[in-house]
Amino acid sequence: MFHENTSLSTNLALLGIPADYGSLRRLTPFLQAESLVPLGLDCFGRDQFATPEAASAWFGMRAQAQLDGIELQLVSAFRSIAYQTALIRRKLDAGQSIDDILRVSAAPGYSEHHTGRALDISTPGFTALEAEFEQSDAYRWLLTEAGRFGFTQSYPRNNPHQIDFEPWHWCYHPQA
Ligand code: DAL
Ligand code: ZN
Repeated sequence: MFHENTSLSTNLALLGIPADYGSLRRLTPFLQAESLVPLGLDCFGRDQFATPEAASAWFGMRAQAQLDGIELQLVSAFRSIAYQTALIRRKLDAGQSIDDILRVSAAPGYSEHHTGRALDISTPGFTALEAEFEQSDAYRWLLTEAGRFGFTQSYPRNNPHQIDFEPWHWCYHPQA
């Protein structure tokens, strides 16, 4: 279990993640969002939250997509460092190796989901969090339109973070 008073490196060590994880994968730690607003229920019926700016950008983007005949569904948004720790612990307990896990989940402290600005997105007819989302009209729509709403793809193919291709993961970056 992650404790707020446990340092990030201690927390990583407890999961078998090397201390140079961030520098090796060109990832920097993120602070947990302090101000969050509800996004409503995700496609699994769980409450989701994001920063006020990311929430408003998401609602605007989803509404425009709908006007264009595209249904965007939310899969996951804000995740705390403690949640990410528990997620990885669960996968370890299920027998996965830490190397395999880190291709799919960022180490606790390094997930964009901590910022409250990252969203995992799906669409009806496609399994959530699977690469098949790349074949969807929703993904093609996001590729051309998401930027107008401040969202960019964080983990394209061959990204420098050694994280598998995640067509579903989009992060809101405040406009200059
Ligand atoms: N799946 C992405 C990399 C995360 O865990 O933040
Ligand atoms: Zn994600």
